[in-house]
Amino acid sequence: MRISDKLGARLQELGVELRPSVPLSEKTSLGIGGTTDQLLLRKFETIPGVMHLLANENIPHRFLGGGTNVLIADGELPYVVLHLPTSQPGMRVEGNAAYVDAAADLGGMVTFCAKRDLGGMEGLIGVPGSVGGALRMNAGAYGTQIGSYVREVELYRASTGKLETLRGDDIRFDYRHTSFAPDDVMLRVKLELPQKPFKEILAAIKICNEKRRASQPLNQKSAGCIFKNPPGGSAGRMIDELGLKGHRAGDAMVSDRHANFFVNVANASCADMLRLIDEVRERVRVAYGIELENEVIFWKN
Ligand code: EPU
Repeated sequence: MRISDKLGARLQELGVELRPSVPLSEKTSLGIGGTTDQLLLRKFETIPGVMHLLANENIPHRFLGGGTNVLIADGELPYVVLHLPTSQPGMRVEGNAAYVDAAADLGGMVTFCAKRDLGGMEGLIGVPGSVGGALRMNAGAYGTQIGSYVREVELYRASTGKLETLRGDDIRFDYRHTSFAPDDVMLRVKLELPQKPFKEILAAIKICNEKRRASQPLNQKSAGCIFKNPPGGSAGRMIDELGLKGHRAGDAMVSDRHANFFVNVANASCADMLRLIDEVRERVRVAYGIELENEVIFWKN
């Protein structure tokens, strides 16, 4: 979608930087995604104004975080993509509390806190993506999930058109699911973390990194796990048991390292990836009677 010059000028007045015709395949870890205009926001305070303007002009929009857990359709996209502002480093620590921008890097946050003797989040070290994306999905790994540490979230509520602050107790964090509204935009989070010596945190981080390196295709283009694990089960194990590692649809392939990771081996399209997802889901349904649910977020046109 293209923003007109006139609207572009008004957005610039609100401090927005406009980048026309950006291929989102360059902004996602899967290397998949069509083309649209990209709007870089500079200040949280301008968000309500920008959103109001886009709504008035009937411009559909989506916020893109780290781009690590999203599958975006091919071709010219019928919406613009917004990016949140972040300062450097986008985080600070005060006692046991860490205040972090949603646009900050999740792994960067874990190490930043570790260096200040705040731990608890070691398991999240290799999870790619932004803090905001991790919050929305309640990202987790190796027994840790980010929701356990959340004390406050500042967000833009599309339903009220305002910036609001929610208390951690008022948010539900379930397995890869939260009670945020789909159009809530995470802006900043306050976490409360246990004190732990840096050395201990580092040792735990090393173990998680080794486990991850041994079991996941980290040097290939992927969006992490494609499906959620069904209650009490493992999507990866089931897909593996069906002999589907290496199975392809075009350039989309079930990883031969971890069967719940689908990788883009060269120039996979979104259509390739969707075909592979549907085929694998169907094979699992027939063999196990279980309908796997997507973990990856699909941005349909
Ligand atoms: N397994 C196989 N074959 C495979 C993959 C896994 O047999 O190809 C078996 C493993 O041997 C193990 C079991 O399945 O016995 C579970 O595998 P793993 O420990 O790799 O964990 P997972 O359930 O597949 C989950 C998360 C990952 C997270 C890891 C580590 C989900 C959907 N996945 O994977 O998160 O990194 O645990 O905690 O919850 C993600 O969210 O994108 C993600 C990758």
